[in-house]
Amino acid sequence: MESIPLNAPAYVRNRKLLQWVKETAELCLPDSVYWCDGSQEEYDRLCVEMVDSGTFIKLSEEKRPNSFLCRSDPSDVARVEDRTFICSIRKQDAGPTNNWVAPKEMKATMNKLFSGCMKGRTMYVIPFSMGPLGSHISHIGVEISDSPYVVTNMRIMTRMGRAAMELLGEESEYVPCLHSVGAPLEPGQQDVPWPCNDTKYIVHFPEERAIVSYGSGYGGNALLGKKCFALRIASSMARDEGWLAEHMLILGVESPEGEKDYVAAAFPSACGKTNFAMMIPPAEMDGWKITTIGDDIAWIKPGKDGRLHAINPEYGFFGVAPGTSVKSNPNAMATLYANCIFTNVAMTPDGDVWWEDMTKEAPPSLIDWQGKPWTPDCGRPAAHPNARFTSPASQCPSIDAGWENPDGVPIAAFIFGGRRGDTIPLVYQSANWYYGVYLAATMGSEKTAAAAGKIGDVRRDPFAMIPFCGYHMGDYFNHWLQIGRTLSEPPRIFGVNWFRKDENGKFLWPGFGDNMRVLKWIIGRVHGRSAAVESPLGWMPKYESLDWSGLEDFTFEKFTKLMSVDREAWKQELFSHEELLEKLYDKLPKEFNHIRELMLSTLWMSPEHWALAPERYSEQ
Ligand code: OXD
Ligand code: MN
Repeated sequence: MESIPLNAPAYVRNRKLLQWVKETAELCLPDSVYWCDGSQEEYDRLCVEMVDSGTFIKLSEEKRPNSFLCRSDPSDVARVEDRTFICSIRKQDAGPTNNWVAPKEMKATMNKLFSGCMKGRTMYVIPFSMGPLGSHISHIGVEISDSPYVVTNMRIMTRMGRAAMELLGEESEYVPCLHSVGAPLEPGQQDVPWPCNDTKYIVHFPEERAIVSYGSGYGGNALLGKKCFALRIASSMARDEGWLAEHMLILGVESPEGEKDYVAAAFPSACGKTNFAMMIPPAEMDGWKITTIGDDIAWIKPGKDGRLHAINPEYGFFGVAPGTSVKSNPNAMATLYANCIFTNVAMTPDGDVWWEDMTKEAPPSLIDWQGKPWTPDCGRPAAHPNARFTSPASQCPSIDAGWENPDGVPIAAFIFGGRRGDTIPLVYQSANWYYGVYLAATMGSEKTAAAAGKIGDVRRDPFAMIPFCGYHMGDYFNHWLQIGRTLSEPPRIFGVNWFRKDENGKFLWPGFGDNMRVLKWIIGRVHGRSAAVESPLGWMPKYESLDWSGLEDFTFEKFTKLMSVDREAWKQELFSHEELLEKLYDKLPKEFNHIRELMLSTLWMSPEHWALAPERYSEQ
């Protein structure tokens, strides 16, 4: 058999990589091998090629310079959790919340699927750094993919190209990420705009630190630096090496006096993480400023100073488009002005993009995400609910000056939240690290229309990591407890809930920029300034200890509703934690049972002792 020429540039010197690329080419049988250098010229050329092949549509150069629209196959529109596998050597290391297959068996399956799977296509070799090039917190990966859509998205989402390859030198380690859309072409066969396969596998080998993905071209399934590497494989590396890889945004809070603090926050998907990361404080809160480090993932390492320091391993935003507007997130809208890839959004007659809630009124006619004519009364959404933008983080007006600092930024507080119509107050602070870990381990969110199951049911999503933890969730909780023991200045831990409703089903909290009021209280707690009352859940703000400037009509009565801790509801809440925790029983930290018991017994204390009584919220 004739071997496929590798044509590696001279700067590719890593022996293990050259061998892996050779073996992969022999297995997948592409027409050619292409080494991505990450240049603008390369990006532009691939975009033109994809316009010619029908994968990309160039958007109006006036409205959305250097930007493209891409429509996926309607069957390939989201992450596939039921096809995602953690193939650790021992089943018990993957834990009951992950799908598991023995590595040997999975490799045999993958070998079959990958043999000849790139026929008729180019095999791209994509070197990338997760995190600033050369940072001691960063790691290098190399993705092999037969999708030019993946190459262009990876260039926005990671530091991709020659510089990352050069960092590898001859011997350095990298995470191999193998990806194919699983759609080989016979000679003369016409390609489709979005090749993919009904059979899908998203596979992780945590001990080998390797990723294999087959059959999907979409987002987290195919851009392997993101969820697969930066969360699933990295969480496993972090456990072994004493750091944290988390599903968290990172933001900076600057006070009018110029004091700067950073917080990291975890929310399950569909809770407005990107909006929070780019929030603009209310004008009346004079001088307070929010800056953005990242909107989805944080790599966090203990520093010599006894604090935790975090970087955003990504280079761009892969955000959910529907719901993003000048009202909900003006900074995101500004970030999207140019140089973006839009996937599964609608197109306007003048060659721009649109999605649900981008404007108050929908345009009178559009082309929908499937390429069909659309009008507001047609009964179908114009954009897919999981339509995405891929945009360079550097274009974000609120990007933090230190977002590429190789040493990361010190984290003063962790915030955990979910979408809860009842029970959970607007904000509360855990009594200590242990209570905080319990809070995060038991956080939950109501299912929205986009997820399977009954709308309103609470899905427990510890640390927002259920779909992204590369090992046993019980071991993960223990790892968090252990990290806390090593820190002399651990971040303070807070719970928040922007989504509590009144008896008429209306949101009690205005949200968006007003979340700044909560952040200000949190930062005040970190510095020992903000007043608080004690409750069974921890510390809570008094009405007076929140800044109400510009929101003076938010009454004390409303605040009391938003903050109330209902004894019966909390009893139920604590009992319902058991459902998840029992599943993890064999590895559950012993501290968790004690904390739950303590919280239960505090609930039975007379209300005068804690925040149940409204007068406790106010000194007036
Ligand atoms: C994401 C997710 O896409 O969490 O970021 O689902
Ligand atoms: Mn996410």
